[in-house]
Amino acid sequence: PRPILLTRHGESIDNVRGRTGGDSVISESGKIYAKKLANFVEKRLKNEKAASIWTSTLQRTILTAGSIVGFPKVQWRALDEINSGVCDGMTYEEIKKIMPEEFESRRKDKLRYRYPRGESYLDVIQRLEPVIIELERQRAPVVVIAHQAVLRALYAYFADRPLKEIPQIEMPLHTIIEIQMGVSGVQEKRYKLMD
Ligand code: F6P
Repeated sequence: PRPILLTRHGESIDNVRGRTGGDSVISESGKIYAKKLANFVEKRLKNEKAASIWTSTLQRTILTAGSIVGFPKVQWRALDEINSGVCDGMTYEEIKKIMPEEFESRRKDKLRYRYPRGESYLDVIQRLEPVIIELERQRAPVVVIAHQAVLRALYAYFADRPLKEIPQIEMPLHTIIEIQMGVSGVQEKRYKLMD
């Protein structure tokens, strides 16, 4: 069995401000997580010569991977966060105030709701297909550093969770979810590296 490690990027400036999307850098606390993650990964995958680190193309994941040394890094556009279209950069409160109908439609059906000029969870699930195929093909461990919506979808695939639950899955910051795929099914461990 070989592990797949899933984690969100370290806390970003937009996380602190409560803003969706964007391409902000990581906060001081996010930088501390990046160091702790590097430590964890370097120990956990010490003898795993063929392991690799996958990020999205957004700064916050690339910076979070920045402290990890000794493993090749791959950037995937398919791992970028859900595109919130016209709502990109807004807080949920602003969306509710400025576009109440959009806010309400998303609340009613978060899985299918597509942001104007953006994506739905179903869109994200679909674009993750090549990533999943490649993850299944890999024989070596992979560390995936990505984003809340994207990781909900990836996690649901490996943990065999129903489609309708995906937008609600808890995906906290500064926590590693380790998935082991063995003959007897899938095992999961969580490591909360910071509060
Ligand atoms: O808040 C962080 C974030 O990654 C946003 O960039 C993104 O829009 C959001 O989470 C996705 O989560 P939800 O689908 O719950 O809005």
